[in-house]
Formats: sequence, C-alpha cells, structure tokens
Amino acid sequence: MNPFPCVGEFGFLELNLSRSPSYAKAVARLKSDSSLLHLDVGCCVGQDIRRLVVDGVPSSQIIGLELEQGFIDIGYSLFKDRGRLETKFLCADILNDIHTLSEFKGKVTSIHLGHVIHVFNRKEQKIVLGNLLGLLVNDGTGMLFGSLVGHDDGLTQPAMKGKMTLLHNLQTWKRMWKEVEEETGCKVKMWEEAKHLSAEERYGSWLPKKRMMIAFEVTKLNTPKRLAIIRAKL
Ligand SMILES: C[S@@+](CC[C@H](N)C(=O)[O-])C[C@H]1O[C@@H](n2cnc3c(N)ncnc32)[C@H](O)[C@@H]1O
Repeated sequence: MNPFPCVGEFGFLELNLSRSPSYAKAVARLKSDSSLLHLDVGCCVGQDIRRLVVDGVPSSQIIGLELEQGFIDIGYSLFKDRGRLETKFLCADILNDIHTLSEFKGKVTSIHLGHVIHVFNRKEQKIVLGNLLGLLVNDGTGMLFGSLVGHDDGLTQPAMKGKMTLLHNLQTWKRMWKEVEEETGCKVKMWEEAKHLSAEERYGSWLPKKRMMIAFEVTKLNTPKRLAIIRAKL
C-alpha cells in the first residue's frame, strides 16, 4: 500500500470530519431522512465513517470509496465490526471510476474529502470536484466537507512516486472553484480556514514552514438544467 505520511503518523486518529462547523447539521440531515446518503472519498481505514455511526447515523446510509482495498480491510480489523457495519465500501479510483457512483446520483447529502484532494494535479482536482457536485442532492443543501495540505505559495510539486500535485493557498483554492462553477454551471457557497502548524505539532517532522492545512466546506446551491459533464478521463 502507498506509504501516506499522515497514515504513518496516525492521522486517522483525529476524526477531522467531526470538527467541521456544519458537521452536526449534516448528521441531523442524515438521521432525519433514511433515503439520504453520506459518501467518504479516500476513506482510508474508515475512521470518520465509524464516528458518524457512533453519532447515530445508520451505517447503511454511508458509502466509503477507497483506492486501496488493504485500507478497507484494516478498518474492519481495527474496529472489529465486519458483519455488523452495513456501510458499502467501494474499492475504486475517484478520478477514473466515477461511474461506480452513478446509482447514488442526487441522493448524496454530504461528501467527505479528508486529506485527499492534494494527491491530484489542478486539472484532476477540477474533474473530481465537478463530478462530486453532480452526485449531490438538488435542493440547495448538499455539502462537500474536507481538508487538504496546502502551501503559502499555492504551487505544484512532486509528491508520492514523483506525481505532480497542486498544494493550494486560499487564493488558488477560491480561484479554482470559480472555474468549477463556470464549467459546471453550479453556484456554491464556500467556507474555508487555513492553519499553519508549528514544528511541535503533528506533521511537524515532514511539513516545511510554508505548508499548511486548509479545512473547507462547500454547499451546492443550485442545479443547472444541464450539469456540464467534466471529462473523467484525462
Ligand atoms: C492521506 S489519506 C487520508 C485518509 C482519510 N480520508 C483521512 O482523512 O485520514 C488519502 C487516502 O485517499 C486514498 N486515495 C488516494 N487517491 C485516491 C483515488 N484516486 N481514489 C480514491 N481514493 C484515493 C488513499 O488510498 C488514502 O487512503
């Protein structure tokens, strides 16, 4: 499996989704309507999924999508809930396998992207975000929640296996979303917060000074008559 630094540093103990300002609202929405779904993209061992279940969301209303089956299996061992957790886990690539989610289109009220968008380059990020907007419910309440590793300078640099990835600052993040809005015809409401971590804090050992964590929430406000299809193949 890929040696993600945040996995090696036990980042999965942090349950970041539950720190989002609108987390309680998302939980309440899922509990109030059993036809609504939550999707966790790049769910890793599924820690944020189990937190939702502890907070009262039926596990059958949650879908976990993860590139590596190994992380999904570790999650079952870690939480000892195989046979009890009714969450559907899909082993798929969110960039190229978006069709695996088509049956859920229009039923997903919340999507979590925890520390995952920064593994893609700019063009890929727009494809992933545009396609995920298309999955969300059409009543102006659907939300994307997430966090990403950013950089003061908003720059492209090589990451795992030499793949070029874009690390945003708040300006490049907002600018990219303007383009996603234009290309999909979707209007969104955004909240975001950037935080630099001191050397003593977690990730201090591998994050240089100019790196930061960006937390975000994006609400899809409208559904255009025809949501532009952003090509899922590069
Ligand atoms: C850095 S980890 C973050 C995990 C977790 N969401 C969290 O917040 O702790 C990134 C996760 O995204 C998964 N991932 C990376 N690229 C992906 C892709 N193209 N499609 C689906 N999952 C992907 C990785 O396998 C890994 O589990």
